[in-house]
Amino acid sequence: MSNLIKIDEENRRFKLDSGDTSYLIMVNDQDMLYHAYFGRKLPDGDYSYLIDTPPHSSIEAIDDRNGFWISDNAMRLEYPVFGRADKKETALEIKFPDGSNVITLAYKSYKVHEGTVGIKGLPAAYANEKSEAETLELVVADDSVSIEVHLFYTVWRDLSVICRHAEIVNNGKNSVVLKRALSAVLDLPERDYIMTTNCGAWASERRIERHELFSGVQGLYSKRGNSSHIHNPFVVLQRKTADENQGDVYGAVLAYSGSYEMLADVDAYGMTRLTMGINHDCFEWVLEAGETFATPEANLVFSHNGLNGMSQEFHKLYRDHMCRGKYKNERRPVLLNTWEGCYFNFNEDTIVNIAKSAADLGIELLVVDDGWFGHRNGDNSSLGDWYPNEEKLPSGVKGLAEKVHAEGLKFGIWFEPEMISRESDLYRAHPEWTLCAKGRPISQGRNQYLLDMSRKDVQDYLYDCIAKTINDGVDYIKWDYNRNFAEVGSQLLPPEKQGEVSHRFILGLYSLLERLNKDFPDVLFESCSGGGGRFDAGMLYYMPQTWASDDTDAIKRLEIQYGTSIVYPLSCMSAHISVCPNHQTGRTVSYKTRQDVAYTGSFGFELDPTKMSEEERNLSKATIQEYISYGDMFVNGTYYRIANPKDDGYAAWMFLSTDESEARVTYATIDHSIEGPVPRLRIPGLLPEATYVDEERGRTYTGAYLMYAGILADIPGDRGTVVYKLKRK
Ligand code: DGJ
Repeated sequence: MSNLIKIDEENRRFKLDSGDTSYLIMVNDQDMLYHAYFGRKLPDGDYSYLIDTPPHSSIEAIDDRNGFWISDNAMRLEYPVFGRADKKETALEIKFPDGSNVITLAYKSYKVHEGTVGIKGLPAAYANEKSEAETLELVVADDSVSIEVHLFYTVWRDLSVICRHAEIVNNGKNSVVLKRALSAVLDLPERDYIMTTNCGAWASERRIERHELFSGVQGLYSKRGNSSHIHNPFVVLQRKTADENQGDVYGAVLAYSGSYEMLADVDAYGMTRLTMGINHDCFEWVLEAGETFATPEANLVFSHNGLNGMSQEFHKLYRDHMCRGKYKNERRPVLLNTWEGCYFNFNEDTIVNIAKSAADLGIELLVVDDGWFGHRNGDNSSLGDWYPNEEKLPSGVKGLAEKVHAEGLKFGIWFEPEMISRESDLYRAHPEWTLCAKGRPISQGRNQYLLDMSRKDVQDYLYDCIAKTINDGVDYIKWDYNRNFAEVGSQLLPPEKQGEVSHRFILGLYSLLERLNKDFPDVLFESCSGGGGRFDAGMLYYMPQTWASDDTDAIKRLEIQYGTSIVYPLSCMSAHISVCPNHQTGRTVSYKTRQDVAYTGSFGFELDPTKMSEEERNLSKATIQEYISYGDMFVNGTYYRIANPKDDGYAAWMFLSTDESEARVTYATIDHSIEGPVPRLRIPGLLPEATYVDEERGRTYTGAYLMYAGILADIPGDRGTVVYKLKRK
């Protein structure tokens, strides 16, 4: 019998203990699934009193079944529905054949599954061993309209995470239309939170914003077809007194790569409803008789150890239970990407020279970026024509891969599979494969159209192109995606199913990626979307790393990488050393600073090594060796944010080794002046009683001193970064 999920059958109560948290669900007198609690772990006991709907007027009321008026608008619900008295944001809206949208979900039954259950066709966190997790399945239904909803809650032995998704089943004889089918709702009893979200743009992703919750609806969304540069699909609600290392924090992430919504709705009773799922403006789904619709997974974390505590739970979840394949817990090969070094101007000789030079530095993987295929010499042609450009690569991908391998390097290549250039053989052959509304004008973005990924023939074509290229000797693929959706439609689907295309596009993408993962388990895939426009937990299921941003300026990266670290493990975030002046900002930053900032992620270079000075070559050799020596700490160690570059005016962070015997603290100045406030760095995560040695500086500390009194930051020699390597004695 289950020991993470405790069930009181008689009273219809469910207590989910996940890591250091408890999540309580009860069935109320109206047979609704009532959300009683999510927070710090509670002992077992009688929690029936937590059915504590606030008093409300008869204006709200819909039912006097129990002798007094009650309203679902005032209740905390697990999966609220549209069409009744609940006038807040809801999870489910269905249009029935008679034109009505009224549905009432009543509790029916439960089931407990060992481990995780997965979601057909969608990414979902998985248990490595069944004993790591348990999943509760609750069934609610409206028999009058033959609709059943299955709500899944995965709880973890060692993680303070609840993974949720819903499956909607049409048991009727006619099709119904899903207008909205969200993944999860979290009804919190209070509104006293700071909402932390992120905003961004191309080359400026995931910058953190904070505001106090206000009455009404606030939140994030994407209608762009990807999770987007603009807002990443995560929301944090933290108590006003919480900070990086203490206090109550809720984090919610949607593991989905398409258009989404994450909204907080603060109501008249001072309660906060957090909703998350596929963006309902971009969604309509015809659910045929007998069919089931599965939502993406939502991942909820509660931490009473502040933002760092929350981030560390997400990092463990995504690194150990979302990423797959042989690289998930391994240091990724140090790579060199040709984009900023060559852009479209290269040929086989250029690449072979770069390979020789890179091999001499100790680089392990050479990646040929955009421009190797079709007639591609700029961004205006050839997407879809995934065969080598013979003028540039006379011996093809195969010949080039052999030459790069001969230098002792792995070989990687760039693709942008979901796109089609108007100027391409593929478009000439298959204009009907373009994502569009039939007969209407189609907008171009970066001179390209989108392919209709909902089509199996498109998926098969891409699979064949990519598989053939991999078989030519490819060890790594950078999977790019460089424009947003505009006119969405499929020429294959009937009119009534056109509302399904946005989601079907993502299902098609996932299906293709699943097939490639299965057939090529040794290939390392890296996701990219004009930099970090699709940096989400969904993509991490198929590709264990993502290019964080097209901005490679180390100072600009401080804020981008800070924001990324709120949710995503650092090993999943690629970060490269590029040349100065930087191509995006024109800024010059010392080599050491560029190195220390790039170490924070999966490390590499974005330049032409044949153009490096002798001094930079020597520095790079040492850098690569040092990075490799820290491999396990950077991938599997614990990451702590110490300072927020935006609010504090400087950045500082720490990696702690898995056995906690070594810590590496990096302090980065942003606007360094000779005189002025110098930060005092208080180092979290150490053992107060232990002794730590900084051999480089000949200093010995007690953990408590480092944690509570802190150290005055050293003035960086290059006005950039300072690194403290602490060893526990
Ligand atoms: C956008 C990516 O983010 C860049 O790194 C590069 O691959 C270009 N696309 C190539 O077109």
